[in-house]
Order: sequence, then C-alpha cells, then structure tokens
Amino acid sequence: MYDCFNRNINYLRISVTDRCNLRCRYCMPAEGVPLISHSDILSYEEMLRVIATAVPMGITKVRITGGEPLVRKGIVQFVEKVAAMKGIQDLGLTTNGTLLAGCAQALAGAGLHRINISLDTTDPVRYHDITRGGDLLQVFRGIEAARKAGLSPIKINCVVRSSSDEPDAQSVREFCEKNGLEVRFIHEMSLAEGHFTIVENGHGGDCIHCNRLRLTANGMIRPCLFNDIQFNIRQLGIKEALEAALKNKPEKGTVNLNGSFHNIGG
Ligand code: 5AD
Ligand code: SF4
Repeated sequence: MYDCFNRNINYLRISVTDRCNLRCRYCMPAEGVPLISHSDILSYEEMLRVIATAVPMGITKVRITGGEPLVRKGIVQFVEKVAAMKGIQDLGLTTNGTLLAGCAQALAGAGLHRINISLDTTDPVRYHDITRGGDLLQVFRGIEAARKAGLSPIKINCVVRSSSDEPDAQSVREFCEKNGLEVRFIHEMSLAEGHFTIVENGHGGDCIHCNRLRLTANGMIRPCLFNDIQFNIRQLGIKEALEAALKNKPEKGTVNLNGSFHNIGG
C-alpha cells in the first residue's frame, strides 16, 4: 500500500506488551510507568486479525516488539501462527535477550526468521547500571542460544548516548566482530523533544524511506513514531484504522507527546 508521499508501506511492527523485565535508563523511569490495563491489551487473536487484514493491503514484513515481547505468555505460539500466515515474507522479533536462552530454539522452530537483541555494553557492571538490574550473562546466553537455534542474521541494537565511538559502544562493536554479529547503533532519542536521527547501519529514523506502521498493545495503529496520531482498531474497525493511518502518515516525524518506546516498541 502506498501513502500520500508515494512510500510503499509493507512493514508492520507489533508491540505485544508494554511490560518489561528491565528498566533501561533511556526508556523507563526507575519506578516503571503506568501500565496498560489488562482489558485494554489486545488478545493474540485480535493481533492475528490485524495481520490478516493488513497482508492483503500489502504488508509483507512483521516485527514483534514490546516492552519486552518474551515476557508475554504464549509468545511462541503467537510467532508460530504469524509465521504460518500466507503473505508474511519476513518475521522478526526485537528482544532484550534476557529470557532468550530458554526459548530461542522454540522460537526458531515456530518459524521466526530473525532476531534483534538489545545490547548497549559488554561490561556487566555497566549493563547492570544502564538496565537498572539486568544480568549481562543472561543476554550472552541468549545470544548463544539464538545462534545454536540457527536464527540468522542476529542483529545487535546498541543505543549510544553521543556517538558510536564511546567506550560502551566500542566494546559492543568488538564483541560483534568477534562473534559474527551485525551491530546497529541507535542514538538515544527523545520523542517528546523530537530528537531523532538515522540509525547507523539500519533503516529507522529515515523518513523519506519509511515503510512502517505500528500496532500498540492496546490496539492503536500509529503511522509515525515521532507523531501523536493514532487510530483505535476497536473503535474504528481494523481496516478503517489501517486505512486512516496510511492516509495520515506524516511526511516527516516531528514530536510525540503521548507515547514512548516502552509502549510503541521503538
Ligand atoms: N532512544 C533510542 N532507542 C530507544 N529504545 C528505547 N528507548 C530508546 C531511546 N530513548 C530502543 C532501543 C532498544 C529498543 C527496545 O528500543 O533500541 O533496543
Ligand atoms: Fe525494556 Fe527495552 Fe525499554 Fe530496556 S529499552 S526497559 S529492555 S523495553
């Protein structure tokens, strides 16, 4: 499907939960955030209906995000159902990796094509600090499990504060070179202040080439991460919300005052 600026929109990112088992400093306050109430969270059936509606409209790529998607029960079965849908050419998942060791094999078996793992440093003390409590060893085990399971490519998302030359980012770059992993550096952004840049090595933040729509865990289709507009699938209907988002997808991001990474999924 084409938007008003002739961009071919073929990519849907789905946040399956706003919950997370970490509290990264750039993403969430220490005390966490007000969570979406359980009755507002979409069921997997509703998400599958959104995908089934979006595919004939032209969506071919799906990415599952959060929050942390692996904290939601039944995620492997959900992946299996999405992977089995006709028309899905590419199915990815973005995770912090802490719970991956226990399910990488099952995810690969369910038909997941590829995985992105967040890793901002290879120093366990720094990791614990940045994520406010995360255990780096779990992430290393998760990466290893993903490799053993044959998930490929494995991409590492590394958030940098000022540049990819800073020591934490350098350590991640070296780790990735040694281990045959692709790394992408994402500059820390502020949605409310409209600070965003193009992802190094990746596709995010490049408005001219943006091919995305997003579905939040409470059923909002959001055409742009850096904009407030959203369309409620439960109120408008799925097809109507998708069409409205397409029609209203802004040419460029500006600011977003009513959403953040933990509930839109980055
Ligand atoms: N700036 C940039 N990226 C962010 N993420 C979360 N918060 C921010 C932020 N403020 C991204 C990270 C992480 C993913 C889950 O969300 O890339 O890997
Ligand atoms: Fe959780 Fe990812 Fe946010 Fe960190 S960046 S708190 S892992 S959702």
